[in-house]
Amino acid sequence: MNERDKTLRPEESSLEISRAALDDLSSQVTQLVADYYSEIRSLPVFPETQAGKTNAQTGTLLPTEGEALNDLLADCRAILRDSRHNGHPRFFGYVASPSTAPGVFADLIASAVNVNVTSWRSGPAATEIERTVIGWLAEMIGYRNHDQKAYGLLTSGGSMANFTALLIAHRTKAGPGVAREGLWNSRPMTIYASSEIHMSIPKAADMLGLGRENVRLVECDERFRMNVSKLRERIAADLANGLQPFCVVASGGTVNTGAVDQLAEIADVAHEFGLWFHIDGAYGALAALDPSKRALFAGLDRADSISLDPHKWLYVPLDAGCLLFRDEAGARAAFSFDKAYYIKVHEHDEDEAFAFWNYGPELSRRFRALKIWMTLRYYGTRRIAAAISEDNSLARYLGECVDQADDFELLATPELSICCFRYVSPAFASRLKSRSFNETDNAALDKLNNEIMLAVQRGGGAYISSATLDGRFALRACITNFRTTRADIDQTLVIIREAARNLFGSAV
Ligand SMILES: Cc1ncc(COP(=O)(O)O)c(C=O)c1O
Repeated sequence: MNERDKTLRPEESSLEISRAALDDLSSQVTQLVADYYSEIRSLPVFPETQAGKTNAQTGTLLPTEGEALNDLLADCRAILRDSRHNGHPRFFGYVASPSTAPGVFADLIASAVNVNVTSWRSGPAATEIERTVIGWLAEMIGYRNHDQKAYGLLTSGGSMANFTALLIAHRTKAGPGVAREGLWNSRPMTIYASSEIHMSIPKAADMLGLGRENVRLVECDERFRMNVSKLRERIAADLANGLQPFCVVASGGTVNTGAVDQLAEIADVAHEFGLWFHIDGAYGALAALDPSKRALFAGLDRADSISLDPHKWLYVPLDAGCLLFRDEAGARAAFSFDKAYYIKVHEHDEDEAFAFWNYGPELSRRFRALKIWMTLRYYGTRRIAAAISEDNSLARYLGECVDQADDFELLATPELSICCFRYVSPAFASRLKSRSFNETDNAALDKLNNEIMLAVQRGGGAYISSATLDGRFALRACITNFRTTRADIDQTLVIIREAARNLFGSAV
């Protein structure tokens, strides 16, 4: 082998592609994304498909040889076609947002550089950008200001942010020995949250070995907010029974109705009993950017920790969750692990010694901050706030339309951008008005609305999901979508009425 040959890897074992092939790949993929964005309004929200069909069309055989780019991209188009389109203006299910184009292309850059954001040493720029973004998010929701510092990290989503928060809370309140000695000898430690809390909180308690039953679910008031006097009673009763209350979790926007718990009152209770105060703001915290909603978040700055999801209401592509906290030393004590010599940081400068693995469970982490940084810099917070405010006002509009209609019943007044209601056919509507409505009627309406929801989803014109409120089945529309307009709301109500008529004709 001569010297020149040594600089070339045998073609067969190299995955490098030529500049021309790279340009071709890049322009065709960019075209595909641009086409998708320009078509998205006219696509069916939910494809006409069934389980396994996409896979059958796009090949199930393990490819031993490379395939032509045109074939691959044709299959990618088929995959897009057979997807559910969260970015469609009439997608109202769950909490799912469209992605911003700047966020999408930022993800491409992040994947190209493929930096592993474990620590400053492994990704200096990415680490600094993540720390900047954390500060920006804290400032946007009013958690950081001139005299209050905030720290934190990006996570895969709200569930992981909540889990991380509860571990820090637990270690802080249980004392440092618990990580070595285990939980088993101590008195049961209890967490308090409303009955409307997201499932990620009991799951986190389970993963921490505390047990789901030790998340005490406190009753709600008529606005689906935690009843604060019941909270106080429950903590006092558990203390009297020898348990160890250590944390209260408030919702900064529940997933069912968007209710925001009374944060300042709950902060008082947490302070009174010496509990950690966490806010699950995965869905709602960014609504603090809407001036008409800011008052709902009074007391947010008193939280020990707060979760929020840029992949929900900042419209950045999945995945991007965030945990913020005040006590950096407490978080570090919970997660740092000085026995892992292979990753030990040998730096003297404090910033250069910084490592995210000291603050959360993940070691390898992708460069999530770039898509948030790019989205915020591209639009500025003023435009983002306007998009969030419009989502809230569309939910209010939907609530008004429903309330004024004879054939719908509003089941929860929208607090943020979620509206819960049900279809009430003329036969039921007259009984509802005359107050002769009974449980059998409620059960019949639950069934009717469940079938309507499935028919609407299958129809492809709009997508709504459901919630159970006070035992009743509700159609639930969550608007975290910068494409949705009032015309989409009107059309969705038409679609629901049509689905009811098609299913039940004049029988309903
Ligand atoms: C209030 C709330 N908390 C937590 C989560 C979990 O977030 P993720 O799906 O990002 O894990 C959600 C998801 O919808 C949510 O609405």
